Amino acid sequence: MLVNFNEMLMQAKKGHYAVPHFNINNLEWAKYILEECSEKNIPVILGVSEGAAKYMGGFHAIVGMVKGLIEDLNIEIPVCLHVDHGSCKETCINAIDAGFTSVMIDASRHELSKNIEITKEVVDYAHERGVSVEAEVGHIGGTEDNITSSATNATLKDCQTLYENTKIDALAPALGSVHGFYQGEPNLDFDTMQIINEKLPIPLVLHGGTGIPDDKIKKAISCGISKININTDLQATWANALRKFLSENPTVYDPRKIIGSGEKAMKERIAEIVTLFGTRR
Ligand code: 13P
Repeated sequence: MLVNFNEMLMQAKKGHYAVPHFNINNLEWAKYILEECSEKNIPVILGVSEGAAKYMGGFHAIVGMVKGLIEDLNIEIPVCLHVDHGSCKETCINAIDAGFTSVMIDASRHELSKNIEITKEVVDYAHERGVSVEAEVGHIGGTEDNITSSATNATLKDCQTLYENTKIDALAPALGSVHGFYQGEPNLDFDTMQIINEKLPIPLVLHGGTGIPDDKIKKAISCGISKININTDLQATWANALRKFLSENPTVYDPRKIIGSGEKAMKERIAEIVTLFGTRR
């Protein structure tokens, strides 16, 4: 069932665990994630970046693909189809019109007042249609979709101002995590995370989940993180399995065998991640 993320994240906030947001890149990614999460009977968020949407053909193609998989594979867990880092109102509207059940509007590159203005316009459009909205305060740095940017940490005051003026459903405060692999240990501001969680009634989101040590993931969840985004980790897991398969099977040319050679490793990694997050239904 395709749903927005409100109920799954409010339950996670109450129950002190996190719901996984896995970015998808193609049909196989979506299929493996749905199958593994269904096997574990847990809710899942499928995140689609603008680059991945373009790669897969567009929002309608993705909605059709995900709905088709849910039906053909008899998936009965709650599944949220979510735009990751929508850079403008138009992207979010196009995705919502195509059938996405959730969007992230990321206007964090603008100053706060502009971020609020754009986010509010998306919230108005989304909420009329039952779609949930995530926004970002501060700026999460690192590399995603081949775009690299530097980080600025969020403040409680800015988070409160954005929430009060927009009534978003979940907030991603930038507090030291980055997209892609970390150089050295990630330095997360847990104190601010905890205070933001206490002052805001909505669930918090941790971006840049790849490479954060297990104890820091657990600490983040205990400080109120209810949704954790993972992209690079599964990409690297799949790519490593594929490299090994190709080097051991140099004459294989069937794309189903080549692409599918990453399935086992990806599913095992998904199982480890959701166990760490404590995800339940
Ligand atoms: P990673 O690629 O570091 O896992 O981050 C994913 C993410 O935050 C997507 O929004």
